[in-house]
Amino acid sequence: MIRVAVLGYGTVGSGVVEIIEKNKKEVSERSSDEVGVKYILDLREFPGDPYEDKVVHDFDIIVNDPEVDIVVETLGGVDTAYKYTKEALLHSKSVCTSNKAVVAEKGPELLKIAKEHNCSYLFEASVGGGIPIIRPLNTSFTAERIEEITGILNGTTNYMLTKMDEEGVSYDDVLKEAQAKGYAERNPEADVCGYDTCRKIAILTSLYMGKTVHYQDIRTEGITNISKADFDYAKKLSCSIKLLGTSREVDGKCMALVAPFMVSNLSPLYAIRGVFNAVMVKGNMVGDTLFYGQGAGKLATASAVVADIVDCAINKGKNIGCKWEDEDVLLIDDSNKYFEYFVRVKREAEDEISKALNVKERIESDADKSEVGLILDTMSEERFFEIKEKFNDSILNYIRFAKN
Ligand code: HSE
Repeated sequence: MIRVAVLGYGTVGSGVVEIIEKNKKEVSERSSDEVGVKYILDLREFPGDPYEDKVVHDFDIIVNDPEVDIVVETLGGVDTAYKYTKEALLHSKSVCTSNKAVVAEKGPELLKIAKEHNCSYLFEASVGGGIPIIRPLNTSFTAERIEEITGILNGTTNYMLTKMDEEGVSYDDVLKEAQAKGYAERNPEADVCGYDTCRKIAILTSLYMGKTVHYQDIRTEGITNISKADFDYAKKLSCSIKLLGTSREVDGKCMALVAPFMVSNLSPLYAIRGVFNAVMVKGNMVGDTLFYGQGAGKLATASAVVADIVDCAINKGKNIGCKWEDEDVLLIDDSNKYFEYFVRVKREAEDEISKALNVKERIESDADKSEVGLILDTMSEERFFEIKEKFNDSILNYIRFAKN
């Protein structure tokens, strides 16, 4: 029998318990042993819950119980989650988690401890919810050099941008709607400022580069400046605006960025609507591949956690490794990052800006004659930010173009 302890009986934690019980036959067959939940750790009581007898409030009971093989960490936050994860691994108990914050911040250290204690630290659910993406990176692309990963990694912002695009809803109204539907938090910063996407692209990039990309080093721009006016121009360009996390290997170093991008209707990412996520992985042999599905939600996310439990059960007493080492990846600087930019500028400053820059195309605004859209020739981020600084009062917004 494989005994599991679930830390945190919230949305994902309760989903994990539900799947283990509802799909007991499938999960146990795949694990070649019966899988059952022995403990649920939470501060709260759950009177009337079918699993209330499994609820405990003291982590020591779990970590000191030799019968517990696998710990599921769905606590959220970093400090306590990290502390319990580390203790569990030091006791040779495998840990499966959906907690991207801990993975992005402490991943290499926890992977090392797992290896030293013949157990595993698995986190399929930390990126893309129910979409298999971590396991394919670790086990399916082993003949590849990954050249690029670009993805829509946040369901909340994709829902908001889709509504703005298709229904012309304002940013403020769509944020309220996303909050009412339970997608966006009361404090929506993690989603709308791009921090959630940043941690996810940092995890994916670390896995394919084999070294650590610190999420704090990735330039991260959210969607808070995106307005209906931007979508009006995007439509004229046969584009939509998507929040992308993107990274590329550049001569052993790495380019990584989180920002809203103009995505052409020729790109598969253009068609990703609502709360769905999609991750494009480009290998040097296989070419472009696309992973698509629900990036959040109770059962989709819990399904990925339970798949990790099955892997740990099959590999009991062994470490399931990956190539993420505790060594830093060097990120390239702005002088070596090149993009094509769309800028909205005040019409009164158009002539001056056009003299300073190579303008490829000019787009009239139907709604507001006091501004104009310009597509600028490819240039480095360094040069673009110099220009932006110089014309700060005249540039209303800027959006990079995604490469198809
Ligand atoms: N807030 C995240 C999203 C949840 O909207 O995608 C999953 O990480």
